Parts: sequence; C-alpha cells; structure tokens
Amino acid sequence: MRITILTLFPTMFEGFLHTSIIKRIIDKGLVEIRIVDIRDYSLDKHRHVDDTPYGGGAGMLMKVDVLHRALAANSKENSRILLTSPKAKPFKQSDARRLSKFSDIVIVCGHYEGIDYRFEKYVDEKVSIGDYVLTGGELASMVISDAIVRLLDDGISKQSLEIESFDNNLLECPQYTRPYDFYGDKVPAVLLSGNHRDIKHYNDKMALRETLKYRPDLLENHQFTKEEIALLEEIRNEFEG
Ligand code: ADE
Repeated sequence: MRITILTLFPTMFEGFLHTSIIKRIIDKGLVEIRIVDIRDYSLDKHRHVDDTPYGGGAGMLMKVDVLHRALAANSKENSRILLTSPKAKPFKQSDARRLSKFSDIVIVCGHYEGIDYRFEKYVDEKVSIGDYVLTGGELASMVISDAIVRLLDDGISKQSLEIESFDNNLLECPQYTRPYDFYGDKVPAVLLSGNHRDIKHYNDKMALRETLKYRPDLLENHQFTKEEIALLEEIRNEFEG
C-alpha cells in the first residue's frame, strides 16, 4: 500500500513515521508513506497557498489551484482521495477496514479556516475524526493512516486483531497482567483457572458490561447471539441484586 499525505506542515509527521509500530510496518515494506509539502505546488514567488474569501469573512482559504496541482502530481488513476474535514461523517473502525483494501490512498490535510469549495469535487470522500475542530488536518491524517496500516496483512499479529473494540459493535473486555495482587486489588480468579470455557464466558460478559457502561449506543447495531442474551440477563440480575 502507498499513502501520500499532502500537508502544509511536513515536520509534524517526523515522530509519527519514525516511532514504534508504524515505523516497523514501514520498515517491513508493507506500506510506503510519503509526505508532500503543498507549498511546493504554489507558483508565486512567496509560495502563497491561501487567500481571502470572496464575499468577505474572516480568515484565509486554501487555494483550489495549488491543491489541485499538488493532488494531480501525487495521485494515480486508482488512488482513493480523502480530504480531512470536521464537516464530514466521523471515521469508524469499519472505514479503516474498508480503506485498508485500497493500494493507493492520498490524504489531503485541510486547513482549519477552510479550503476553496471547488476542490471538493476532486475528492472521493471527506473524513472527520470526531465532532470537534482541530487546527488542521495533520493529526486527523495520522489517526486515519494509523488505523488503516495496522490492519494490513502482517502489520501486527493476527491474534491482536481478532477480538478488538468496535468489531461487532462491542468494546473489548478488561485485561490484566502481573502483579496478581496490586494493593489488595486481585486479578479475577476465573482468569487464572485455566478453564477456557469459563474464561470466555467471563470475558464475553465483561465486554458486554463495558459496552453497556461506556457505549450503550453501539448495542443498537449489535446482532445479539443467544449466549449474549443470556449474559445480558445475568448482568441485569447482578445489577438488581
Ligand atoms: N480538521 C479540523 N478538525 C477536524 C476533524 N475533527 N477531523 C478531521 N479533520 C479536521
């Protein structure tokens, strides 16, 4: 896979590209991430990339001609072109999975004050990372790329991807490691029992409990199995007790 990020702030990506799991995935050759400075596609001698809005208003807008030149020089026929923007549907795990199937992705980082609207017709999808406004699309582009590349085959262990929060609209169950006893707070006994059926039952129940507690909205789209309906009943009885 190749991901090209068009940005006004290339230095923001240094830590992202050279640290931890993303670095490992790049070093393995599973993805190439290219950072392109949009300013290199400005034709005026001061390298301007923005201008005042027609009709008045505060702030500056990124220029359509500069953006279009940067995109044309850095995309291919089969590129999936994304534009970061708070004015879009929030990015979800299902979007990360869908986008991980493309071989070439271009992410254009928007500017907080906005871009010329005419650029949007050159974009396949606008992506927001949440209902809040950032100073620019750079952090959003890192979030989107991170969520996509960790899903690539051999990116991280298959087992880590098997049961993940948001797959199947459930949050992951709580997990524990040593020490067994932390100031009297002990790891639940069932996890040390070695009984895989009991452990699965406990973890499934805890996943449901976490989801009920923190993200009950996810359950509206969840297909409940018979076992989960029984677990819900158990949880309800515990609360009532
Ligand atoms: N740019 C500014 N805010 C953003 C957001 N929430 N998501 C994506 N891009 C943005």
